[in-house]
Amino acid sequence: MQNFDYRNPTHIVFGQDRLGELDTLVPKGAKVLVLYGGGSVKRFGTLDKVLAGLGDRTVLEFSGIEPNPQFDTLMKAVELVRAEQVDFLLAVGGGSVMDGTKFVAAAAPYEGDTADLLKHGFAPPPIDTALPLATVATLPATGSEMNMGAVISYQGGKFPLMSPLLYPQFSVLDPSLTFSLPPVQVANGVVDAFVHVLEQYVTFPVGAQVQDRTAEGILKALIEIGPVTLAEPENYEARANLMWSATSALNGFIGVGVPHDWSTHMIGHELTALFGIDHGQSLAIVQPSMWKHRKAQKRAKLLQYAERVWDLTEGDEDARIDAAIERTRAFFESLGVKTRLSDYGVEREGIDKVIDALQAHGMVALSEQGDLGLEESRKILEDAYA
Ligand code: NZQ
Ligand code: ZN
Repeated sequence: MQNFDYRNPTHIVFGQDRLGELDTLVPKGAKVLVLYGGGSVKRFGTLDKVLAGLGDRTVLEFSGIEPNPQFDTLMKAVELVRAEQVDFLLAVGGGSVMDGTKFVAAAAPYEGDTADLLKHGFAPPPIDTALPLATVATLPATGSEMNMGAVISYQGGKFPLMSPLLYPQFSVLDPSLTFSLPPVQVANGVVDAFVHVLEQYVTFPVGAQVQDRTAEGILKALIEIGPVTLAEPENYEARANLMWSATSALNGFIGVGVPHDWSTHMIGHELTALFGIDHGQSLAIVQPSMWKHRKAQKRAKLLQYAERVWDLTEGDEDARIDAAIERTRAFFESLGVKTRLSDYGVEREGIDKVIDALQAHGMVALSEQGDLGLEESRKILEDAYA
């Protein structure tokens, strides 16, 4: 196992009917900005419950954070925060709203050019303060509710922003707030959480038994829960398990002391930025083809995944790996998430644009080995096409 530090300060407030507790969770006397997206939280009554929970505090609202949150939109919130001297941010929504709120928390007190905050990759930008933030999560997928990361769309690309100052102080996870999700978003969420685990687990062995067994447990839970929660959107237990799986997949716990990949995410981000493909869908396209080309580097972990997650023990090693890749693809498809680039109306020439974007964004040495270059990315995308 590799050396690691682990500290996750986010207080999780899990369960039904807990929005009334906002009054004790948010500091007394705080001037609060509630941030949300295109209106689902209004339509389904979540916003009213949040506002009631905030009691007699001064509360402002900022709406219109779009999926794949845009820098320009978020800068309007930054201006509002500065003008009104807001001192607490509450995100109510999915990953896009939570991520957007993290950007606002970092940018509002930042004295330099706020676009510079997006130029540090996975390393923290040089900031020593951020506004306190918290979340009410309405979409189980990204894990943003319990991690320090955000992904912000800027000038045609998607850029990470990571800082320990951006952990939510608390996150309310009420599975019943997700009952209103359209099936496509539920399916996207299952795929996103699944691939978050894979990016931290299907690398190379370092003897991290707790991380491996926990990763396998989350994957098996998602395989069981996915179809149930799609078929029965108001099955509380299934939705509760999906929500906690998604949070557990990317709150750092399974990622300590092990190598990380993230190449499926980096290529997927370009598919979203260029063609508007949803985040979860982009991962379903890239992941199976990624593995076809990375069998040699990932051989031991792919065999472990085949045996422990899909119970594949028969046949020679290559046959077991191929079967595990096909089971993964079939799982995504069974949720209704298509796994071919051509399924999303993209022309084959679009692959050139993806390669150009990867190059422009410096994504030329991906994977846990740092050896996945543009030529291999092209082969992966060609393979993913049809
Ligand atoms: O905008 P509204 O009207 O709220 O509608 C949203 C949106 O259209 C809707 N929705 C959310 N909760 C709902 C609901 N509709 C009905 N009922 C509810 N309870 O769902 C749509 C999609 O929302 P979005 O927040 O965009 O989805 P998701 O949670 O999948 O977030 C995706 C974003 O997270 C980033 C992605 O890149 C993408 O920008 N990621 C963030 C990560 C992180 N912070 O750690 C890691 C991930 O890998 C990912 O990159
Ligand atoms: Zn993701």
